[in-house]
Amino acid sequence: MNPSGGLRWHWKAWRSLPLWEPTCRDIATWLSEKPPTRGDLLLIGASAGWMMSSDFLSRFGKVITYDIDPLAAPLFRWRHGKALATAGTELVCQRGDALNNLAQVLNEHRKALVLFDNVLGQIRFHHPDVDEASHRIASILRRLRGRHWGSIHDAYSGPVRTPVSRRAHTPLMRSVQAPPLSAGASKRADRDQPQRAAFAAFGSQLDADGAWLDHLTGDLFPPGTAVTHIAWPHLDDYCHWLQAGWVEPA
Ligand SMILES: C[S@@+](CC[C@H](N)C(=O)[O-])C[C@H]1O[C@@H](n2cnc3c(N)ncnc32)[C@H](O)[C@@H]1O
Repeated sequence: MNPSGGLRWHWKAWRSLPLWEPTCRDIATWLSEKPPTRGDLLLIGASAGWMMSSDFLSRFGKVITYDIDPLAAPLFRWRHGKALATAGTELVCQRGDALNNLAQVLNEHRKALVLFDNVLGQIRFHHPDVDEASHRIASILRRLRGRHWGSIHDAYSGPVRTPVSRRAHTPLMRSVQAPPLSAGASKRADRDQPQRAAFAAFGSQLDADGAWLDHLTGDLFPPGTAVTHIAWPHLDDYCHWLQAGWVEPA
């Protein structure tokens, strides 16, 4: 079973589109800030592109999607194919494990801008051992050296105090990924300080209640990356905190 996609995901996404609409708008806002290009886009974890903006995709000459889910390609074409054809954007949908074969996939698309579309925060569900999941994420980052890439992913998720339907949507928040640690900051508590400060600010706006799940993506972006924080009310009483950013080639 696919713990981050498949039929259950498509059913939930289709039914939840009205609830997720403000989040999709925030994602489209973040994507629209990227300067237009007619180059190639490599979209990893594309699924059906339930939360993806056709306008953003249409700025590329070619969009290559990857997903392990066999339903992803036909549903992606159904959702975005017409807009892309109208824009003259070529669409190639691949079924495959782009994370375990990342070196090869990147090599096949050397010039493409890479976007991980809500997949890196799911790695801990594919590798239930937390250390193994962290190790997988670190090895993906190593492979991305020298590439222009971006990601939108879960940072945290958990229950909220007030049902989402009874409160206004939490507006997106901007921050900059914390700078490297000073040599003296060795304790775990010190290391986590910037994340905890960010959690306090955005977490209180999200109306977080109790313990939230850490999706192990806190160190994904290099220091100095402009990060956009987006509220994703997944269910009426359960919210995801998305983080999005672009990383220039080092
Ligand atoms: C939360 S969904 C992504 C949602 C999608 N971006 C959208 O807008 O609908 C995560 C997706 O990542 C896919 N996925 C998980 N592991 C993958 C891998 N190793 N390679 C490619 N896709 C993967 C899952 O099948 C699932 O469709």
